[in-house]
Amino acid sequence: MCAGKGVIIAQSKEEAKEAVADMLSGKSFGDAGLGVVVEEFLDGYELSLFVVCDGIDYKILPAAQDHKRLKDNDIGPNTGGMGAYAPTPLIDDELYKKVEERVVKPTLIGMQKEGAPFEGVLFIGLMIVKNEPIVLEYNVRFGDPECEILMPLLKTPASELFYKAATQNLKNLTIEFYDKYAIAVVMASENYPYGNSKPAEIIIDKNVLDGLENTHISYAGVSLEDGKLYATGGRVLLCIGVGESIQEARERAYLLCGQVHFAGKHFRSDIAYQALKYDK
Ligand code: GLY
Repeated sequence: MCAGKGVIIAQSKEEAKEAVADMLSGKSFGDAGLGVVVEEFLDGYELSLFVVCDGIDYKILPAAQDHKRLKDNDIGPNTGGMGAYAPTPLIDDELYKKVEERVVKPTLIGMQKEGAPFEGVLFIGLMIVKNEPIVLEYNVRFGDPECEILMPLLKTPASELFYKAATQNLKNLTIEFYDKYAIAVVMASENYPYGNSKPAEIIIDKNVLDGLENTHISYAGVSLEDGKLYATGGRVLLCIGVGESIQEARERAYLLCGQVHFAGKHFRSDIAYQALKYDK
C-alpha cells in the first residue's frame, strides 16, 4: 500500500524486502529509490501534550488532538492543523501517568542535568500505540490550533500561569480548568496548503453570531482595510465552540462556521470524530 510518493507501508517482512529490493535496483523510483529509509510503522493516534515549565516544576495541560490532514477522514496533504479539540477522552489517567513518568519527568530532569533547565511551554507530540505513548517530536512553543482551544478551558488566569512559570514559582500554583470541552475548526484560504490565495472579503452574519453563546472566532491570516476584513491566505481563522460535552462544543463550532463566509473558504467537517464515541 502506498501512503504518499515514495512511501510504502509494508504489511509483512517479505513485502518490505521486496519493496526495498525494487527501490535499490532502480525498478520502483529510478535514481530516487537508491537511498532508502526504513522506519517502524506506528499504527495509532496522535495527541498533543503541553507542559508549562519553570525550570523545576511543571503543569500539564489537558491533552489535545490536532487534525493535520487537509481533508475529512484524514486524507490529503499534511497541514499545520485543520482543527483540534481538548480535552481528548482518548487518554485516561493511566496513560497520563505513563506520559508523565516516562516522558515529561525524564525530559525535564535530563535538561536540568545538562545545565539547561527548561522554562517555557514544552509541546510533546505523541503517538499512542496499543495504549503506549511514543514521542514523535518536541517543540518549545504552543501549538496552533491547540493553543486556541486550551486557553478557553483554563480557569486559572493565563497571566498568573505564565508569570509563575517565568518566575520559578509554579509550585505555588494550583492550576484549574473548566470541566468543559473546546473545539476549533480551521477555515483555510482557497489554495491552502498548496499556494497563495487572492485576498477575499470575510462576511460574518452578525445577527446570528450575536445569538451564539460559547463561541468565538480567532483570527490568523487576515487583514483589515477600510473597515473590511479580508482573508489573506493560509489558515485564515478558527471557529471555536465550548460546551459541556464534545458534541455540544462541536455543534457550536460548526454553527459558527456556517455564519462565516469568504470566497474559497474550506474546512474539515469531521473535527473530533474520534472522540464522539466516548462522549458523555
Ligand atoms: N498543530 C501543530 C503545531 O502547532 O505544530
